[in-house]
Amino acid sequence: PLVLHVLGARPNFVKAAPVVRALGGLGVRQGIIHTGQHYDALMSDVFFQDLALPEPLANLAVGSGTHAKQTAALLVGLEEVFTEHDPDLVVVYGDVNSTLAAILVAAKLGIPSAHVEAGLRSFDRGMPEEVNRIVTDALSDLLFTTSPDALQFLAAEGVAAHKVHFVGNPMIDSLFSAMPRLDPAPVAERLGLPSRYAVATLHRPANVDSPAAAKELVDAVLAVAERVPLVVPIHPRGRTRLAEAGLVDGPTVKVVDPLGYVDFLSLVRGAALVVTDSGGVQEETTMLGVPCLTVRPNTERPVTITHGTNRLVTPALLPSAADKALADGAATPSGELPPLWDGAAGPRIARVIAAWLKGDNLSP
Ligand code: UD1
Ligand code: UDP
Repeated sequence: PLVLHVLGARPNFVKAAPVVRALGGLGVRQGIIHTGQHYDALMSDVFFQDLALPEPLANLAVGSGTHAKQTAALLVGLEEVFTEHDPDLVVVYGDVNSTLAAILVAAKLGIPSAHVEAGLRSFDRGMPEEVNRIVTDALSDLLFTTSPDALQFLAAEGVAAHKVHFVGNPMIDSLFSAMPRLDPAPVAERLGLPSRYAVATLHRPANVDSPAAAKELVDAVLAVAERVPLVVPIHPRGRTRLAEAGLVDGPTVKVVDPLGYVDFLSLVRGAALVVTDSGGVQEETTMLGVPCLTVRPNTERPVTITHGTNRLVTPALLPSAADKALADGAATPSGELPPLWDGAAGPRIARVIAAWLKGDNLSP
């Protein structure tokens, strides 16, 4: 049997690496299809290197576009590639447009599919990712969840419980694997940062797409930089708009290209504070015990608040929240990490997939 992993965007690479490694260890025949949704070397190649992902079988080079244009290119490209390779299982990750397109094509071709990071919900359909999550989970045959809450959300949407496997968080597996390589000092020095600094990453459409939202956010971020020197590895989505709103290199702010996985997590590990709207970064700061302020009205990852170091803030509240976080340092409210965020999610997923490929009946 053949398993195809469909990957397109930066967070997909991080989530897939432990699954690919564990399936390889079980001798399962597999390949990666890169959709080309992310294509800059710093958004793609560097992750294949840092995470030791094998070369993709194909790169569809779909590139950027409106949701309709990008998704349409993904549908056409993936249909051709699935028809050519005839996989027994398609595995998709997270909630990006590549995830949505791959699950839809697999469903229409009658190819079984698995969704890694199923069942996350922000209950905010204004987020493109929430739409992608709902459709992906509705069409998946195997659903791998990172948090126990997911099962109730999936059940409420009519997903049969026997399809759902609570396996923990493969993004945290990748973090565990990288941990020995995470060294803040040389990266901070290379970027001209002092030993006490903060890191910000911002790319949600609601924060960076409109000039008004970008201005409000940048004003708040610059206020944080008055309190602690700040480095902003800038996602290409917000590069122009955030610069126009005033986020430019200055005495207390360094605006740099996106960083590779090991460099970025090295910086986060040594940071006094992280400001983000990323999904994955909320989880990584939870594990690393770094205070995190998430500039969003909601999160699909509430466990990072109840078991972690994360807090939701508005731009208006960001400066005062930064004061408090810098004064308090890191503390996890529950004193314990989220269940099964233990570095072994990839092997759990691989075991379920291998058993499924052998035709074992996994239903209760
Ligand atoms: C996508 C995901 C988002 C995820 C993020 C991770 C969707 C709908 N959104 O958002 O959930 O959090 O990836 O980073 O799938 N661009 C480049 N170079 C690249 C890639 C993108 O310059 O290599 C620029 C282009 O101007 C493009 C814009 O970034 O139009 C947005 O890229 P896109 O993949 O559509 O969405 P992201 O904002 O990256
Ligand atoms: N990341 C990185 N370099 C950066 C910013 C983020 O390597 O400059 C990593 C981050 O550690 C995490 C992943 O990219 O593993 C998250 O991707 P992103 O924030 O783009 O997507 P999201 O999680 O919001 O979907």
